[in-house]
Amino acid sequence: MDNDPAAFEIVTVQSGARSLRSRNHGETFHPVVGPMIEAVALHVRQQRLVERAAAEEGTFVIWDVGLGAAANAIAAIEALAQQATTGLDVEIHSFDVTDGALRFALSHAADLGYLVPHVATIETLLAVGESAETNIRWKFHPGDFRETMFAAPAPHAVLYDPYSPQSNPDMWTLDHFTQMRTCLSPEVTCLLTNYTRSTAVRVTLLLAGFFVGHGHATGEKDQTTIASNDLAMLEEPLDAAWLKRVHRSTNAAPLRSTSAGIAPISPEDWARLSSHPQFAS
Ligand SMILES: C[S@@+](CC[C@H](N)C(=O)[O-])C[C@H]1O[C@@H](n2cnc3c(N)ncnc32)[C@H](O)[C@@H]1O
Repeated sequence: MDNDPAAFEIVTVQSGARSLRSRNHGETFHPVVGPMIEAVALHVRQQRLVERAAAEEGTFVIWDVGLGAAANAIAAIEALAQQATTGLDVEIHSFDVTDGALRFALSHAADLGYLVPHVATIETLLAVGESAETNIRWKFHPGDFRETMFAAPAPHAVLYDPYSPQSNPDMWTLDHFTQMRTCLSPEVTCLLTNYTRSTAVRVTLLLAGFFVGHGHATGEKDQTTIASNDLAMLEEPLDAAWLKRVHRSTNAAPLRSTSAGIAPISPEDWARLSSHPQFAS
């Protein structure tokens, strides 16, 4: 089980930074460039968290999906805390099925480095389920995100970081993304950032009702994925040339709990995908 400390180990990634590896999933958190560099590039900068939170008149809501060892949450807190005097009002809602990774990380805070200035905040979060730094409130929703997401306010930013579709398939299905899409508010512009560049995942997000774009490169990947409920928010939306490649791809079927695995897109799914408003010219 992931709440067993033996489920994790500390590893050194290519950049020299230390990170966690899940033994059960065989996956390293933030591989190659390490926790803080990836969290800042993939989520904080690409989401333009600081600028968007500063421009928000009400509370700016961040969903941190897969709290894990809290690198994404801490990167967001550190970037936003620098703006604390500007009257910024932020809530971070972290979701995880277990706090095992965070407890393990806390017991190796000195090795990991990035947790050290935030130990007291995290101890409070783990003890009572909520905490705060400057005017950033931080709440932990323990349990399966597919159920707990309904209790959180509609997000402006989703830092989507479960394990991969191969080892964490429930978090990548069309049914799940369709449910998640219903949690967004038409009044709240939202961006979702994720490390994948998989065609099948992008097709799944599109069929769930998101607009989807090419995301910035990280150390590990030449591009990632960004999705939104507002096409105008995407710098580089997937276009007609991408759609054409989907039609020819052997690996473009959307992910379903009943999927047999890698497959081309079916004629029914192709009909829905090609009529998505993102591709209307
Ligand atoms: C790659 S780790 C996240 C790393 C983390 N974002 C960080 O910055 O350290 C993936 C996390 O997703 C969590 N997770 C997987 N499936 C989940 C689910 N259905 N609901 C909530 N959390 C889930 C795992 O327990 C794990 O902690």
